[in-house]
Parts: sequence; C-alpha cells; structure tokens
Amino acid sequence: MKGRIYYFTGTGNSMRAARVIAGSLENTEIVSMRTDPRDYPATDCDVVGFIYPVYHWTMPAPAVKFVEDLDINPKAYIFAVAMPSFICGYACEKLAEILKKKNTSIDYGNMVYSVANYAIVYPPFPPAKLRVPKTERKLGIIAREIAGFTKREYPRENRFIKKKRERVMTPYLELQKYADNPFTISEECISCGLCSRVCPCKNIKLMDGIPTFMHHCANCMACVVSCPKRAIGYEITGGDRKLLDASGSKTFLVKIMGLPKKRKLYMNPYITATDLTKDSEQWQKEAKQEKK
Ligand SMILES: Cc1cc2nc3c(=O)[nH]c(=O)nc-3n(C[C@H](O)[C@H](O)[C@H](O)COP(=O)(O)O)c2cc1C
Ligand code: SF4
Ligand code: SF4
Repeated sequence: MKGRIYYFTGTGNSMRAARVIAGSLENTEIVSMRTDPRDYPATDCDVVGFIYPVYHWTMPAPAVKFVEDLDINPKAYIFAVAMPSFICGYACEKLAEILKKKNTSIDYGNMVYSVANYAIVYPPFPPAKLRVPKTERKLGIIAREIAGFTKREYPRENRFIKKKRERVMTPYLELQKYADNPFTISEECISCGLCSRVCPCKNIKLMDGIPTFMHHCANCMACVVSCPKRAIGYEITGGDRKLLDASGSKTFLVKIMGLPKKRKLYMNPYITATDLTKDSEQWQKEAKQEKK
C-alpha cells in the first residue's frame, strides 16, 4: 500500500493532523500543499488524504489551486479532514466539487474543531489548553476510522451559513489580493529569513535583508507566529483603508483587522517553525527514528 496526505497549514493544526493520521497508516508520506503538485502526483497512491484549515467558511484558495492541479488515482481511498475553529461552511463541499471534475469523490470526510488562529483579527480562542486535548482525542478517532478504510459522508454547509457566506464572505474574498498590504516589518527584524521559509505561499522574499511581501498571501499567520523577534505587525493605514473601501468591502472583518503588539499568538504545541519549513515528510520513518 502507498499513501500520501497533502496538507495546507499556517499554524500547524493541519500538519499535526496529517502526522497523526499518517502514523496510523502504512507507508504514508505527508506533503505540504506549498509544493508543486506535479512533483508529488497521487497517481500511484492507494490512499490519498487532504487536510486543511477553513478560511472564510470555505477551503483556502492555495489548497483549491493545489488540488485542481494534482493528478490523482481515481480508484484511491480518498479522505478529507477540515480543521475549522467554529464554522466549517463549504470547506468539504469545495473539495468534493474539485474531485468530481477529476471523476472521483471523497470516501471519508470529517472536521476537527481546532484553536482559532487568525491573529490579525482576534487572540487565539478557545484557550489552547482546553481545545488542543479535545482536538487530539478526535484526531485519534479519525485516524482509527481512516486506518479501517471506513466510509463517511463529508460535513455539509447549512442553509443559514450558505446565505451569509455568499453575502458577507464572497465580497471579502475579493480583497484577498490586498491581504498582505498592511503587513509591517519593525526595526527589530534581524533578517533571519524564517518568515520566508515558513510561508506556505512562497509570498515573502528578503530584499536587501528586508522581508518583502509579494501579494499572493493567504493570511495564514505562519510568518507572524514564527518570527523570533515579533517584528511582523499588521496595520491598516489610511491608504490601505481607502483601497479596501474603494473595492466595496466595508465588511465588519476588515474594520476590526489589526495586530496590537501585545496580542497573544497561537501555534500548535506539537509543531515548530522548523516543521513548517518542510515540504514533505516520510512521517513513519521519522517517528520510528525518534523512538530509537
Ligand atoms: C484567514 C483565516 C480565515 C479563517 N476563517 C475561518 C472560518 O471561516 N471558519 C473557522 O472555523 N475558522 C477559520 N479560521 C481559523 C482556522 O481555520 C483554524 O484556526 C485552523 O485550525 C488553522 O489551521 P492551521 O493551524 O493548520 O493553519 C480562519 C483562520 C484564518 C487565518
Ligand atoms: S522572521 Fe522576523 S526577524 Fe526573521 S526575517 Fe522575518 S521578520 Fe525579520
Ligand atoms: S506572507 Fe505570512 S500570512 Fe501571508 S501566506 Fe505567507 S506566511 Fe502566511
């Protein structure tokens, strides 16, 4: 058997889930969706998994693009695990939609409520010490179900959320092209380049030692939480606010965005910034080596 789990992550929840589930399967590798899908096709895989956070009540745009460009064995056992904090919305249906175009479907779908990590909008909640143990328990159950090749209907969006998503979130998604305009780099930056190495969208380049944002940001928070100097801020100043308003936004979300220096940040406790820099892992092999 050959398995491969593709994950998109900003703050490690989805990577942790990928590792736990891979640990329950034989010969299974985990691969970040920041790689080129042509380098890691799933054409020879018997088990294929997709694990990702929920952004704006749907699947993150870079994960959508990755799966669209991925070649998959249509006969594989395919599973999907979304990692929302509270609202899963259309996240699983979106994946099902993409897979349908590839003449395949989700055999097992589930979601795991995780710590909300959107630091430029709110402090992490619920507190990690309360939610992470629950998340871990549910991941254990899901890992056993997937190892037994269980079939499960994926979570569907309810009508109330669908209506709200179309009205509130769709215009907000239009603003994503401006998502990294408000990032600031303070004088505390030591030009270590970690922010660039953890970014799942390859959106940060060091120019003369200064991190520079390339305008294809998913707002995943990886750079913000990984910076050892906490040098990355987020400030919607006059110019950016005008731009956002001009694009018809004026959404509640945009109004409250910012990153006060004292705001608490969240990173999954089982994952480090170094882990986020990895593109792929033969997880079982590494786990065995760790045990020795
Ligand atoms: C840009 C952004 C948008 C988000 N939107 C949602 C959402 O619509 N619904 C939800 O339940 N959680 C939302 N979250 C929270 C994340 O989905 C959640 O914290 C997830 O577990 C993070 O996974 P990761 O650690 O693998 O990046 C959002 C987070 C970010 C950064
Ligand atoms: S991680 Fe922080 S200190 Fe390092 S280059 Fe990026 S902003 Fe500067
Ligand atoms: S620039 Fe930062 S927030 Fe944007 S995608 Fe990269 S790591 Fe995530």
